[in-house]
Amino acid sequence: MFVGIGYDIHRFVKNRKLILGGISFDHPCGLSGHSDADVVLHAIGDAILGAASLGDIGELFPDTDDKWKDVSSQILLNKIMEVVKEKGLLVNNVDVIFIAQEPKISNQKKEMEKRISEILDVNPERINVKATTTEGLDSIGRSEAAAAQAIVTLTQAAKM
Ligand code: CDP
Ligand code: ZN
Repeated sequence: MFVGIGYDIHRFVKNRKLILGGISFDHPCGLSGHSDADVVLHAIGDAILGAASLGDIGELFPDTDDKWKDVSSQILLNKIMEVVKEKGLLVNNVDVIFIAQEPKISNQKKEMEKRISEILDVNPERINVKATTTEGLDSIGRSEAAAAQAIVTLTQAAKM
């Protein structure tokens, strides 16, 4: 079993769609970033890369490369899964925490878990999405930003 950790934070901005865990949210602000700034998928991607000893998401998809501008993070995660599978590894489970004052994600958590499970090719029961506020404290508490932390385990794929 291989364990990896991921953390990410993005600033809220007006006039951008909010995408979390690959799902669109109806919210007055989106997150700013070079890609679609899906902070949940970025934390998961970094955790997967960490568990596979493959560096981090910024190394694979530099924000200086126009190729990744406004790209869906689902595409980035698909590419991460390609290199992970090439290494003979599979996702075993994911636990991810979304940290933001708003929006409340409770109603769409199951949808996020399903989408994440499809991208990672793992049973949705092995994906856990949860959330917390920072009780109005700090930049996240002032709704200036949203963050996510993820932990992932990978296993060796069975040999053919
Ligand atoms: O301290 P605790 O995390 O329990 O309290 P909270 O930050 O007020 O969050 C209460 C509950 O709201 C959490 O357990 C989450 O399930 C949910 N929540 C959410 O759905 N979306 C957020 N952005 C923050 C919290
Ligand atoms: Zn990010």
